[in-house]
Amino acid sequence: MRIDIITVLPELIESPLNHSIVKRAKDKNLVEIIVHNLRDYSTDKHKRVDDYAFSGDAGMVMMVEPIFRAINDLKSQRTYDEIIYTSPDGKMLNQQRSNYLSTLKNIIILCGHYKGIDQRVRDNLITMEISIGDYVLSGGELAAAVITDSIVRLIPGALGDETSALTDSFQDNLLAPPVYTRPAEFNGWKVPEILLSGNDALIEKWKFEQSMERTKRLRPELLDEWGED
Ligand code: ADE
Repeated sequence: MRIDIITVLPELIESPLNHSIVKRAKDKNLVEIIVHNLRDYSTDKHKRVDDYAFSGDAGMVMMVEPIFRAINDLKSQRTYDEIIYTSPDGKMLNQQRSNYLSTLKNIIILCGHYKGIDQRVRDNLITMEISIGDYVLSGGELAAAVITDSIVRLIPGALGDETSALTDSFQDNLLAPPVYTRPAEFNGWKVPEILLSGNDALIEKWKFEQSMERTKRLRPELLDEWGED
């Protein structure tokens, strides 16, 4: 898979994607993540990529031309399955969307900034808009890092244990069961006895019951979403 990220702040996105599972996936050539500085596509002598809003509103707007040039340059080299714009008014990121994105070959993520981007970019170049939550970030870089991380860990081979991603919370719309490690007792706090029983079938049943109970208690709305997009 190849992920091209277009941003005005490359440093902000590079660090979170250079550690842990994402770094390992890159090292194993499972994913290529290329960060592009939007300013490199500006024809302005000061490398400006934003301008005042025609509406007179306060705040700068990212201009259509550098974005058009950046996206077209990439599109001239390969076909992209999705061109994503990070925005608080996009569709909410969830595990199903990450699963879908992880199956694609090439995607572009355009990070929003300032007061937003010229609407003509959204109307003509973007195929998908994603929000990572109902709050406003200073820019789309952290959102792009979150989206990328959630996708990359799902690429087969990215996790040490192939089955791990399947048992993550939200796969099947259930929260993950609690986990414990040694010692079996600490400070008088005991690990549930069933986990020490060695009975795999009973442990599996317990894990499912715990997942159900946790989901009902903490995120009951997830149980209504079975089968939804
Ligand atoms: N840019 C600013 N806020 C955002 C959010 N909540 N999700 C995605 N991109 C954003």
